[in-house]
Amino acid sequence: MQKVGFVGWRGMVGSVLMQRMREENDFAHIPEAYFFTTSNVGGNAPDFGQAAKTLLDANNPAELAKMDIIVTCQGGDYTKSVYPQLRQSGWNGYWIDAASALRMEEDAVIVLDPVNRDVIDAALQNGVKNYIGGNCTVSLMLMALGGLFQNDLVEWASSMTYQAASGAGAKNMRELISGMGAIHAQVAAELSDPASAILDIDRKVSDFLRSPDYPKANFGVPLAGSLIPWIDVDLGNGQSKEEWKGDVETNKILGGSRPTIVEGLCVRVGAMRCHSQAITLKLKQDLSVAEIEKLLAGANSWVKVVPNTKEASMASLTPAAVTGTLTVPVGRIRKLAMGGEYISAFTVGDQLLWGAAEPIRRILRIVLG
Ligand code: HSE
Repeated sequence: MQKVGFVGWRGMVGSVLMQRMREENDFAHIPEAYFFTTSNVGGNAPDFGQAAKTLLDANNPAELAKMDIIVTCQGGDYTKSVYPQLRQSGWNGYWIDAASALRMEEDAVIVLDPVNRDVIDAALQNGVKNYIGGNCTVSLMLMALGGLFQNDLVEWASSMTYQAASGAGAKNMRELISGMGAIHAQVAAELSDPASAILDIDRKVSDFLRSPDYPKANFGVPLAGSLIPWIDVDLGNGQSKEEWKGDVETNKILGGSRPTIVEGLCVRVGAMRCHSQAITLKLKQDLSVAEIEKLLAGANSWVKVVPNTKEASMASLTPAAVTGTLTVPVGRIRKLAMGGEYISAFTVGDQLLWGAAEPIRRILRIVLG
């Protein structure tokens, strides 16, 4: 009998995970599901057809230790406080975690099974018990470009990102929309008058963006009508932690012995939940665009190569087109003027699906066997 405990199932990533598990009928594969809470111990558990109807205490290591598998979307602070106690108590179950806290630990695997099923299978064989979801940008890049990375065809990659508000959290998504609405409210009268002067509208908008009235409690600066060229903490060497993750996590996921350099700048833009990336790649071979497209399209069931035309790119390669779907389109593929090994690519992916919940959902199914 495998007991699976869920922690953080009510937050944004947790809710997407539950939705996907319901859609895929995953609970039918879980002999015993238990739901934990940090705030409502003894309350009613959600009804996924499981036997246990009461919420258990997510901060009680003794309760957690009864589980064979723990799946958490509760966040890094929770992992840092609970996980060490649990392991110190001798618990030897599987820890499946969406947070970054344990990702780079030696005894943890970053899971993205369409890309690194071999690494996951070897780890399971070797008794590894910690399976951690990757950084969203990294996972989405590898889902899109797996055909090149998995075949060891990339010498280096530079990813310039356009990351959605969702990566910063639910409150940040709300703040983005509040900002959009507040900007509109400043100039609603002028907008409805076709004879009004655009530079007057622009000045009012600019003044508002710089005013203390702009709603920016979460991002700290305006996102709607602007962008933020820094994501996550400052590592003190000119690099953001999000940019650092691009390299270390890509290489850990791929598990190869020869590292591929991944560089770039990570930028927050006013999209809701789709991260986009403009990627420059130096390949190890001068492959034709047709060969590259074939490799990319064949790498997994979710990547979709978009022809490099204006119509197709505008129709299929945008956050608006991709949001809420598991499809990871990749397009704008062309040879660059620097030489035959240099190509561009642009990809978009849902940050909450392949960027967060889906790899967790799938590793749970793999661990359940
Ligand atoms: N760090 C990412 C972001 C989300 O801020 O967009 C989590 O992977």
